[in-house]
Amino acid sequence: MHKSVYDIIKKKKDGQKISAITSYDYTLGSLCDKAGIDILLVGDSAGMVMLGYENTIPVTMEQMCMFTEAVSRARNNALLVADLPFMSYQASIEDAIKNSGMLIKSGADAVKLEGGNSMVKTISAIVDIGIPVMGHIGLQPQTTMLSQGYKVQGKTKDSAIKLIQDAKEIEEAGAFSIVLEMVSHEVAQMISETVSIPTIGIGSGVGCDGQILVVQDLLGMFEKIKPKFAKRYLNLNDDILKALENYKKDVESGVFPAQENWFSMDNDELTKLRN
Ligand code: KIV
Repeated sequence: MHKSVYDIIKKKKDGQKISAITSYDYTLGSLCDKAGIDILLVGDSAGMVMLGYENTIPVTMEQMCMFTEAVSRARNNALLVADLPFMSYQASIEDAIKNSGMLIKSGADAVKLEGGNSMVKTISAIVDIGIPVMGHIGLQPQTTMLSQGYKVQGKTKDSAIKLIQDAKEIEEAGAFSIVLEMVSHEVAQMISETVSIPTIGIGSGVGCDGQILVVQDLLGMFEKIKPKFAKRYLNLNDDILKALENYKKDVESGVFPAQENWFSMDNDELTKLRN
């Protein structure tokens, strides 16, 4: 049985940290799940790391459903959360409910959407029909990132108060957790102490109840943007590049394939064929 939103909430109550990671495909999703990570997020960052877009704006519901289906086939243990992409929930509550339903039908257990106070009615409408929602404040790639770039949020008293209020309202609307992206660590800690639901930080310091990273950043597979907060546990790009160059060399020199890599005919059949 995989984890539920209640297991995630309980971890905060029990004082245990929550691990989360993005996943977009079956192969890496299986490994993230096998590693025992608590939450797999099918993030709309898929647009950048999987599809090569400049940002998350072009990502469609169809793409998010496809990625979600792939990860849902890989997941046995984790809670599976999927992002509502840009303009799948902002125009109307009807859109938000219909598109949340599509992600759930694709295998997600919960949906995530960006926005504070302005999204409270939308969050509570989705929660009311029985779909768990994860909020997302601080840097919001679908909006604040476009106007402000990669700017740390909550560095002034007023912006900190707004973030704390947003977090409280998201909790009151019924969300089961909140992502805090690039929020100054003091404010992230205050929010985590103020709300009873778990906060999942990305670039927001150790005071959050859990942490999330983009899996390609963690594995050293995405070169375009290298955020300071993304700890690299591997440099897979270098290893993969070396392996591919070796393969090319082996093909060109005839070293690959070797006998153990091919299949042979039965000798009698071969003789008959030759005759
Ligand atoms: O899309 C994404 O990957 C996210 C995480 C950065 C939290 O929203």
